[in-house]
Amino acid sequence: MIRLKKIQEADVKNKTVLLRADLDIPLAGGKIADDFRLITSLETINYFLKQTKTIVIIGHLGRPEEGDKSLSLKVVAKWYAKNFKFQISNFKLKDFTGWKIGEKLILLENLRFFQGEEKNDQGFSKQLASLADIYVNDAFASSHRAHASIVSVTKYLPSFAGLRLEKEVEELSKILNGPKRPLVVIIGGAKIETKLPLVEKMHHFADYVLVGGEIAENDKVLLKVQHEKITGRKSILLVADSNEDLNDITSKSAENFVQIIQNAKTIVWNGPMGVTEEKENQNGTNILAEGIVQTSADTIVGGGDTLAFLKEKNLLDKFSFVSTGGGAMLEFLADENLPGLEVLDI
Ligand code: 3PG
Repeated sequence: MIRLKKIQEADVKNKTVLLRADLDIPLAGGKIADDFRLITSLETINYFLKQTKTIVIIGHLGRPEEGDKSLSLKVVAKWYAKNFKFQISNFKLKDFTGWKIGEKLILLENLRFFQGEEKNDQGFSKQLASLADIYVNDAFASSHRAHASIVSVTKYLPSFAGLRLEKEVEELSKILNGPKRPLVVIIGGAKIETKLPLVEKMHHFADYVLVGGEIAENDKVLLKVQHEKITGRKSILLVADSNEDLNDITSKSAENFVQIIQNAKTIVWNGPMGVTEEKENQNGTNILAEGIVQTSADTIVGGGDTLAFLKEKNLLDKFSFVSTGGGAMLEFLADENLPGLEVLDI
């Protein structure tokens, strides 16, 4: 079982903290579509604002192609400035640009603009580490990525888990270590290359695995073959049918899913069933969401697009636990040894 080094154990007085936060928020037309991840970062930031000299916040946004600067974190800098009612100005810190927000907060530009980040490059993580005295990971949603700001930076600074990261691990560990059964895991959304191996891993943990969204459309046959091959499998797999234009699952599939979850004692959900940014493609996800909140099961949901959808429908507070993690939440439940957690394990 993972035991994280907590920030309460760190001497932070007058220190500069390098804080890895979950800044990867859904955007619509360049604006923030859902700020849940940013809101959850505030507890740790407020904790440090009282005690430390400077907080250098780092993180990524989206998956920028080389040279594409449209995924700038300026939108997030403005969000923090507005939230704290602080002034904001452009800022340069050694080799990094970013924004100074108030007197103590600095936010650096999207780390994925640098090649070293996703390569977990030692040189790049040394550069990051040189900016601060201690490192804190509060980015649970990115902790399944062995990237420089999550993993190798911890070699060069005393490293700790932030308050949100701690809470995520605590809550999800309860599910991992003794879920009430039947346990139903629902997987949808995009990011097929992340989700496909996770569906397979979930068969060892769940009683039912329900799959919809892009992954179901693209990999229906593969999912079934994969399931057949699992030795000693106990889980049942259901893959949704897509409607004609492939932007949503059929009402019939959504209703079949609801029938299964009616008997569930624990439901874990990540990923919408259709392209829910467009109202006309929300039907399947809506049927499913309404079905989930009507059960008396423990309900755990995570992932940027899923949360944005539930917030729009005013259903988010009906879930037992809302995780910041999408892929990370599923990875943790499949195998708690996420790369970003292992390096903070006592
Ligand atoms: C997420 O949203 O799951 C995290 O921010 C990780 O993003 P990634 O899948 O692009 O690595």
